Amino acid sequence: MLASSRVVTRQAATQQLRAISAVRAASTWANVAQGPPDAILGITEAFKADSHPEKINLGVGAYRDDKGKPYVLPSVKQAEKKIIDANLDKEYAGITGVPAFAKAAALLAYGPDSAPIKEDRIAITQSISGTGALRIGGAFLERHYPYAKTVYIPNPSWANHNAVFKDSGLKVEKYRYYNKDTIGLDYEGMIEDIKKMPKNSIVLLHACAHNPTGVDPTEEQWRGISDAVKEGEHYTFFDMAYQGFASGDTNKDAFALRHFISEGHRPCLAQSFAKNMGLYGERVGAFSIVCESTDEKKRVDSQLKILVRPLYSNPPVHGARIASEILNDPNLNKQWLDEVKGMADRIIKMRALLKENLEQLGSKHDWSHITSQIGMFAYTGLKAEQMDALAKEHSVYATKDGRISVAGITSANVKRLAESIYKITG
Ligand SMILES: Cc1ncc(COP(=O)(O)O)c(C=O)c1O
Repeated sequence: MLASSRVVTRQAATQQLRAISAVRAASTWANVAQGPPDAILGITEAFKADSHPEKINLGVGAYRDDKGKPYVLPSVKQAEKKIIDANLDKEYAGITGVPAFAKAAALLAYGPDSAPIKEDRIAITQSISGTGALRIGGAFLERHYPYAKTVYIPNPSWANHNAVFKDSGLKVEKYRYYNKDTIGLDYEGMIEDIKKMPKNSIVLLHACAHNPTGVDPTEEQWRGISDAVKEGEHYTFFDMAYQGFASGDTNKDAFALRHFISEGHRPCLAQSFAKNMGLYGERVGAFSIVCESTDEKKRVDSQLKILVRPLYSNPPVHGARIASEILNDPNLNKQWLDEVKGMADRIIKMRALLKENLEQLGSKHDWSHITSQIGMFAYTGLKAEQMDALAKEHSVYATKDGRISVAGITSANVKRLAESIYKITG
């Protein structure tokens, strides 16, 4: 009797142990769901797997030269050499980064005649490129914006805006921007939506070279947008990822930002030096807030530091030193402005060549949007099935929304690209 009850107890203990080890064997992350793949990465993989000798990749959002190769600007190489020759140490920067860089970045965006610069009322911090600037801005608004924390972004917008602002704790809504029938700006829809937003909403505007559409408002339309934003007492968040890269002229591309300021808006701004200096992987950017006074600027600056410190403590110095050399050395600056213009001009030329080739082939479609759009991307108006056909039948790869990176077009592939588009559109 005693022996059999001991057997039962031992069996129960073994079962219990098995149950415990089964719980232990289940991984902590067993319930983590598989996330969707990045749309651009999928294109790059399909492109790499294609054996066509003349395959074309129009998915990448980075500049390529006329040989289709990544381009390191000569001004960047020179600035980097100067920095290495100076044998600088690798000490930490302050929380807000390299001061000479941040000061010059503000000057580039707001312009030398800017009242907030002259009156010393711009709070600014270096950031991890444009994305980091947007994220700091999102976090600052989430913590300090005194009204409803909803940011309105254009429809469509850069694919990351939604995630960046949501992860910052803001609510994200959309306003009308693109008219698929005209392949242009839905100006009336945009103004109507801005007017419908609750008072004191946050409105995100692409300062120039709208991504993904390449469709920018005209200067006249920017004036109307500024009036509508002012009427609603909304707050403006400018995302300027392409200053100089759009038109080839850094002042022209800053028109919207500077016009808003001259109209009395006090926006915040995310800047990126990824495209206009080709500093993609160096992650150089800045986030700034136009304040009412120097005293307000000091308080805002202190809160920016409080936000940044637990995020990443302080930003990397190398890329910011390069950008600082380029912006602060008059000779290098002049050279850089020529090089930016060179990149913008190549893109503008490729747009014209693509349109010309399509017309020469006898295409009945109106391709004028290819040259009226601006910046790295062109919204072709091609549908998802047509983009699939371009990839499968012609080895031309780009996103399903019909966006092509004009930077991927070269003198050598533009004819074949036009022929491929012509074959699928007639
Ligand atoms: C509209 C827009 N904003 C911000 C960025 C941020 O880029 P990065 O973080 O590389 O500076 C990009 C990059 O493609 C962009 O197109």
